[in-house]
Amino acid sequence: MDWLLNDPEFGYYGSGRVRFGQDGDFVTAPTQGSAFAELLRRHLWPCLEALAAEQAGPISLIEWGPGDGSLMAQLFESEDLKQAIWFDRLELLMVESSPALRQQQQQRLSALKLPICWISPNELKLSPRRGLVLAHELLDALPVQRFVLASGRWHELAVCCDAAGQPQFCRGAPLSDSVLHQLEQLGLPADGGGRPEGWSSEWCPALAGWLQQARDVLSQGWLLAIDYALSASRYYAPQRDGGTLLACRAQGTSTDLLADPGLQDITAHVCSTLLQQLAPQANWHWRGAALQGEVLLQLGLAAEISALSEPGPLDLAARLARREELLRLVDPHLLGGFWWFWLEAQSEPPAPTPIRPPGWWPEGP
Ligand SMILES: C[S@@+](CC[C@H](N)C(=O)[O-])C[C@H]1O[C@@H](n2cnc3c(N)ncnc32)[C@H](O)[C@@H]1O
Repeated sequence: MDWLLNDPEFGYYGSGRVRFGQDGDFVTAPTQGSAFAELLRRHLWPCLEALAAEQAGPISLIEWGPGDGSLMAQLFESEDLKQAIWFDRLELLMVESSPALRQQQQQRLSALKLPICWISPNELKLSPRRGLVLAHELLDALPVQRFVLASGRWHELAVCCDAAGQPQFCRGAPLSDSVLHQLEQLGLPADGGGRPEGWSSEWCPALAGWLQQARDVLSQGWLLAIDYALSASRYYAPQRDGGTLLACRAQGTSTDLLADPGLQDITAHVCSTLLQQLAPQANWHWRGAALQGEVLLQLGLAAEISALSEPGPLDLAARLARREELLRLVDPHLLGGFWWFWLEAQSEPPAPTPIRPPGWWPEGP
């Protein structure tokens, strides 16, 4: 998965072959329009304000995995922020692993009148920032490891070539004790717990390292990760044989993961239980999670929709298009089923409590 997505020459993201948006392979909330960013601001600005009010010095908004750069552009385009106490102190930092996408983002954001730079996690770690890490649809692109039940034990589900040289999945080595232990924590017993021979799924070995990297770039502040996710009890339910991995191309999905290497997206759901289990090990305090639909309604989405029924500056066609865009953000079958994960960097002093956002995140256990 890492190779197919991130190889700088052939990978789907690494080479820049990815096609975002309605005319491309898949739509994300920012690539369908600016409504998402407009609502997200109502969560982000109070956080920046709280940090700025507490202490002098720079504040950072760090976007990790910015895709085509739409989200950062929409957050700051056409916003008069000169009154905000943090505005003169804000730096935008972009963490992007694909050289080709970095170029696209630089083009997309060239007109932005704010200090912005592209930086690696290792560089950032050398001088951690006060601020906020934003990861929208990043975690679903972290490479996962597939595994399969064979003769009562979990094995890697590896990729090999058949007699004609075509790639196919095949049984690999038994999973190591440390992976088996991790899976047990997620409710998957080492003997398969009664699941049938050949039952398969996946997990994300890269998540722990990523959480540590993201923590290392902050001296104080928060992580907001937004993605489609399932708790372990649903992810690994016996009836979900085959896991959640999907290939996406031309607005369609398929389970033919090995077709057209580097020409289709490959993505897996985030396991929210794993995220929650790993967070404290990387010094994150779990502040909770909420469904995107719920969060956006609290951030004023319903009022936005009802305002569209009144005549205003937009003509009828534009009002209807905007209404549809807003509804897609909360439709549980579309983007409303996404989860927002809110984590706080454990730090001394702790991050200040923003005046807003409202308490949409239930305290985690
Ligand atoms: C599914 S796209 C999401 C793009 C964008 N955030 C959006 O929602 O439209 C994943 C993005 O994360 C980047 N990416 C994947 N792994 C990364 C990593 N380890 N570090 C930084 N960027 C990464 C990809 O190159 C791509 O820009």
